[in-house]
Amino acid sequence: MEVSKCCLFLLIASSLCYIACSTTVSHDGRALVIDGRRRILFSGAIHYPRSTPEMWPDLVQKSKEGGLDAIETYVFWNGHEPRRREYHFGGNYDLIRFLKEVHNAGLYAILRIGPYVCAEWNYGGLPVWLRQIPDIELRTDNQPWKDEMQNFTTLIVDMVKEAGLFATQGGPIILAQIENEYGNVETSYGDAGPRYVNWCSQMADSLSIDVPWIMCQQADAPQPMINTCNGFSGCDAFSPNNENSPKIWTENWTGWFKNWGSPDPHRPAEELAFQVARFFQTKGTLQNYYMYHGGTNFGRTSGGPYIITSYDYDAPLDEYGYTRQPKWGHLKELHASIKLMEKALTYGEFEEVNLGNGLTTTKYSGDGINPACFLSNQNGKSNATIDFEGSTYFLPAWSVSILPDCKSEAYNTAKVKTQTWLMVKKRNTAMEASEILYWSWRPERLGASAKGFGSTFTVNNLLEQKSVTLDESDYLCVDVGEEEEFTLSVNTTGHILHAFVNDRLVGSQYGTAGQLNFIFERKVWFNPGRNVISLLSATVGLQNYGAYYDLAPTGIVGGPVKLIGENTTLDLSNNSWSYKIGLDGEVRQIHLGRRAVKWHSGMFPTNRPFTWYKTTFEAPLGSEAVVVDLLGMGKGTAWVNGNSIGRFWPNYTASADGCHECDYRGTFSSNKCQTGCGEPSQRWYHVPRSFLKHGEPNTLLLFEEAGGNPLQVNFQTVTVGAACASASEGETLSLSCHRGSTISSVDFASFQEPKGTCGAFEGGEGCSSDEAFAVVKDSCLGKESCSIEITEEFGKSCGTLPSPRKLAVQVTC
Ligand code: GAL
Repeated sequence: MEVSKCCLFLLIASSLCYIACSTTVSHDGRALVIDGRRRILFSGAIHYPRSTPEMWPDLVQKSKEGGLDAIETYVFWNGHEPRRREYHFGGNYDLIRFLKEVHNAGLYAILRIGPYVCAEWNYGGLPVWLRQIPDIELRTDNQPWKDEMQNFTTLIVDMVKEAGLFATQGGPIILAQIENEYGNVETSYGDAGPRYVNWCSQMADSLSIDVPWIMCQQADAPQPMINTCNGFSGCDAFSPNNENSPKIWTENWTGWFKNWGSPDPHRPAEELAFQVARFFQTKGTLQNYYMYHGGTNFGRTSGGPYIITSYDYDAPLDEYGYTRQPKWGHLKELHASIKLMEKALTYGEFEEVNLGNGLTTTKYSGDGINPACFLSNQNGKSNATIDFEGSTYFLPAWSVSILPDCKSEAYNTAKVKTQTWLMVKKRNTAMEASEILYWSWRPERLGASAKGFGSTFTVNNLLEQKSVTLDESDYLCVDVGEEEEFTLSVNTTGHILHAFVNDRLVGSQYGTAGQLNFIFERKVWFNPGRNVISLLSATVGLQNYGAYYDLAPTGIVGGPVKLIGENTTLDLSNNSWSYKIGLDGEVRQIHLGRRAVKWHSGMFPTNRPFTWYKTTFEAPLGSEAVVVDLLGMGKGTAWVNGNSIGRFWPNYTASADGCHECDYRGTFSSNKCQTGCGEPSQRWYHVPRSFLKHGEPNTLLLFEEAGGNPLQVNFQTVTVGAACASASEGETLSLSCHRGSTISSVDFASFQEPKGTCGAFEGGEGCSSDEAFAVVKDSCLGKESCSIEITEEFGKSCGTLPSPRKLAVQVTC
């Protein structure tokens, strides 16, 4: 009796919650309608496996502080189902925990299930085991593929429903996505393409999630799917394919990803803000930053091939989770000013006037609606002054002004008022003595001598690599027996080839992003009698994009492998080849340190390829992000306490060309604003705090494939070096350090325009800055953040400068 009363109570309580907590989500042609109200929504992508559960709450909180309403993520099939019907939802793959963090912060979620995701993720998120299914063809109207796709999509939807995470259940999810940018490749699949699109739509719809589905870059998306726009720009001019679909920008690329051998791509805050403002000026109502936090490609998750381990993306939150300034702050202010106009933008009448020369004025107004206006200058070269409704406005080239009341400018995308800061990496000097790393090492067993470890088999041809390895390892070694003296020629589709004769390395070669196929040629000398050629082929992330990308070959598939002599050429492609998947160290799972393996101590070899190095270290104190500086190492993989922190390749430097002064105005492309030319593509590797132990030794393990010197390897913390801000008389100057650190010195404060950039400001002597220094010190020293009102009085000692005088400040956090 008691039990049933209790159950009844729970039932009533849960149905009350259902009514009270559930959110209805629908849409019309104007906007997403949440609980009956049209909404302007800002969203940002955070991919849960690219950070750690310990980082999630802070990332989500900083997204909220940055003015986001929603967090968007893909779902990573090959991470969740690494082997068929074997599932993994633990650690940083705990999708449900991630969505709950989003919910706890009071944000919405957008779930892009895919399950093809692209995302610079290994194999676009698809499991390589799919290829073993007879007659399967991926991403097309093919029954075995559709069965697998439906199986995984249903599994995710059911899990999410069970956790009550759809909006109608009281959860955060307001939108879901099926497939990803299929429209970009659809024609390559012939008639099967549109049939597949229809099937995707019906299958998704049949899952009854009670929130709308989207399909991005899918102009032929059938109803009820909403087709959406992706890109750096152009989404202002985008219209959905149905008058009942709102205008949604699913991927506004905040920066770009980076390849090994490439410099750092940047997207300036002014250009990003300009495109966002243009989108909302032109009836856009939901925009998602791809990425808001990029994070790290841990383990072997980076796609490509040749995509680096960091997925920083120049996003508003950097790889470690710090706010990237001024981008984060400039967008925060943009969000706040657009939010002021939510009602006008979603319910007002739209009126646009084209003034020529790239100038446009837009007004949203109506009965009972406070009017809201945008003034835009799409001319990338000339500034303009325009008259609008009786006032004059100055519009810098390539900028949008936001007038939430159609009278005063609350924001201009080209006028960055927020603080900027410079992140620095510091060696922890207090710990120098304990910082010396003592290394032990062991050779990897390769070539003929490695036989007997791991699975080996022999066939008379050269197989495609991932169909052999099923992507369980980057490495595949093949051996063949031969005699005499020749040039060894290997035609491979990459990504790296190491060739050995009788266990002696005779050469290594790799391709580049975009040029995968290469021919390796080296003179080789054979001994009399039997000789063994061993070829170690390594992948560096599997391709993730393009029509039939899944069929792109990897490895020495088919070869040919030839021995070219003076008078004869021997084609070895169909000789008897013995295969071995993975490294001996991988098979023994050295990184987990469970099985006893032999390590050498004392003098360690340098520049020795195929060597494992191991050391212990103390975790840096404090809460700042930790990185390991791997300068001096060649190429390989690194683990901290058994957790893979990804592939490293610090000796792969970026091309020397392509970095120059960048003008953000005008059409943007990913290589327009690059830095780091001629430098290692990635020197520092993120070690999340949760991988580290305090009070006991931590283990760093490196597998070095190309030859390197671990002597220089060291741990550093990432922190704010200098923070800078400026404000004119009548404005408020605000400065802050990241959470937990305070302003320790005021390094520059002057009404004179400073020379140099933040971190290296100088000048200002022409105008006495003593008073400014004193005020800034008084207001800011020892504080996490401070604000100073810049009054005319304050600047009086610089009376020789024209008013309004502008105060520039630089502090150290
Ligand atoms: C898009 C894709 C994303 C990501 C992006 C580039 O085409 O949908 O997943 O790959 O490009 O970062």
